[in-house]
Amino acid sequence: MSRLRHSAIYPRWPGLCESHSWSTKHIHCHYYSHITFFSLYNLSHSHPSFILTTKTTNMPLLDLLLLAFAFFFLRWWWRKWSTTGAGPKNLPPGPPGWPIVGNLFQVILQRRHFIYVIRDLRQKYGPIFTMQMGQRTLIIVTNADLIHEALIQRGPLFASRPKDSPIRLIFSMGKCAINSAEYGPLWRSLRRNFVTEMINPLRIKQCSWIRKWAMEAHMRRVREEAQENGFVEVMSNCRLTICSILICLCFGAKIEEQRIKSIESILKDVMLITLPKLPDFLPVLTPLFRRQVRQARELRKKQVELLAPLIRNRKRYVESEGKLGGAEMASPVGAAYVDSLFGLEVPGRGKLGEEELVTLVSEVISAGTDTSATAVEWALFHLVKDQEIQERLYREIVGCVGKEGVVTESDVEKMVYLGAIVKETFRRHPPSHFVLSHAATEETELGGYTIPKEASVEFYTAWLSEDPKMWEDPSEFRPGRFMNGGDGVDVDVTGTKGVRMMPFGVGRRICPAWSLGILHINMLLAKMVHAFQWLPIPNDPPSPAEKFAFTVVMKNPLKAVIVPRSL
Ligand code: HEM
Repeated sequence: MSRLRHSAIYPRWPGLCESHSWSTKHIHCHYYSHITFFSLYNLSHSHPSFILTTKTTNMPLLDLLLLAFAFFFLRWWWRKWSTTGAGPKNLPPGPPGWPIVGNLFQVILQRRHFIYVIRDLRQKYGPIFTMQMGQRTLIIVTNADLIHEALIQRGPLFASRPKDSPIRLIFSMGKCAINSAEYGPLWRSLRRNFVTEMINPLRIKQCSWIRKWAMEAHMRRVREEAQENGFVEVMSNCRLTICSILICLCFGAKIEEQRIKSIESILKDVMLITLPKLPDFLPVLTPLFRRQVRQARELRKKQVELLAPLIRNRKRYVESEGKLGGAEMASPVGAAYVDSLFGLEVPGRGKLGEEELVTLVSEVISAGTDTSATAVEWALFHLVKDQEIQERLYREIVGCVGKEGVVTESDVEKMVYLGAIVKETFRRHPPSHFVLSHAATEETELGGYTIPKEASVEFYTAWLSEDPKMWEDPSEFRPGRFMNGGDGVDVDVTGTKGVRMMPFGVGRRICPAWSLGILHINMLLAKMVHAFQWLPIPNDPPSPAEKFAFTVVMKNPLKAVIVPRSL
């Protein structure tokens, strides 16, 4: 195997560019309770101030000895912790760190999101590099061949997840969730159950009424909002709609909008509080963060109080074979995700308790909401900017269902141009620039370097779809590239033959619900463009600036004027 060693043995910390133009932007990370650790940005808002005092003294021998000792001690730490790839550990190269804290404060002091830091480091350190973040070792992999080798060719070996922080453990009930479980029997059992019970093609069809119900409410809301404000805010409406579909898929219940909003808001708080904090990298600081652990426990309590009644109600409905449960119960017994969890026994835990069910349904709602809503927002951004693309899509929809028809799920499957727009959106704006953190199941090697078992392996996937060697004019939004004769026509997002874009990850941990996510996006886009023409607000064109908010979203949420098509 080729050794991807970098020339500089003690490279300097690179000068980092603040510009967010296409060439330097588009650097980023993932979402939900699936969230990886990339929110050090938050830490960078603290401003430690150091007060230095100086005093002239004569230096006795003891002081000199202490000074010499301190010097040798620091030198020893420096060699132990600075990751250059040349040390006995044979880690990939990387920026030299400071003693004890490694690169942690170098990242914090940059006061910008980790994904932007990584983007610049990739240019300097190449396809695989190491960052020492306090006591955590991160191996960043950015190259298509190495990603393919790790996640497809040697998939099982790189299919685990790293350790969770104490706060994340509170919400995951000790890693009892598909996204955080280590590669092993528990993960296999939870994932198999999710795939067979929630997203098998028959279940998806059986639940199409849920999407129909949510889409009708969505169109009503959009129309009302436009009447009231003169424009529509895309992201918040799409989030609410997708969240309501996922809640109904999980609990089989049509619940009122206010309750959906409360669930959406609490799950957002959960994502916020589980973002990495200093003790995740320097556990010695844990006692200083006791207040946050207390806050996390309180939030967990609220989350359970909000979701447990829905679980209990559904249980009553299932046990009474559909007789009890109240008017909001809408799915037949057995059709809701939570129904499959009531009787599930998983390796090492046996039957799942109520709190574990709260964790498992929360992960599904969080995982599927921001990701899909982000894609709809970016797609509509391009349709608003480029009316020709929008017109061509409208003609395709009308060609399929007519001007007065109703767009159905089988219709969107036939819409080739719509499919191309969605693929191009995922290529140009992958909702997360990294997949979730991976870990090796045992010490191994990649690209000629050692990958320790306890390291977090971070696959920086956004680069793939920006690489000019893989895409013609990668910064252009061109859905046509995914149609006949285009440079993306034979791209396979599952990455089996090779990876050119991977918005859903690839291999063992690939997003199990990617086709459901795409269905939600297709339906929302087709319905919205069929009913309205979407236009920029006069004198306020939408800006492509982006920011990290679990996914990489538009910095200024998209607002558009809508004109009913029938006019
Ligand atoms: C279209 C929008 C979506 C995108 C872009 C997306 C993306 C991803 C990515 C990048 C991963 C991590 C892969 C890895 O770690 O290698 C993932 C995992 C996951 N996603 Fe999605 N996802 C989407 C929709 C959904 C939906 C709708 C659901 C649930 C209904 C869902 C449930 C999950 C779960 C449970 C995992 C964890 C899989 C595991 O660790 O085995 N996702 N997704």
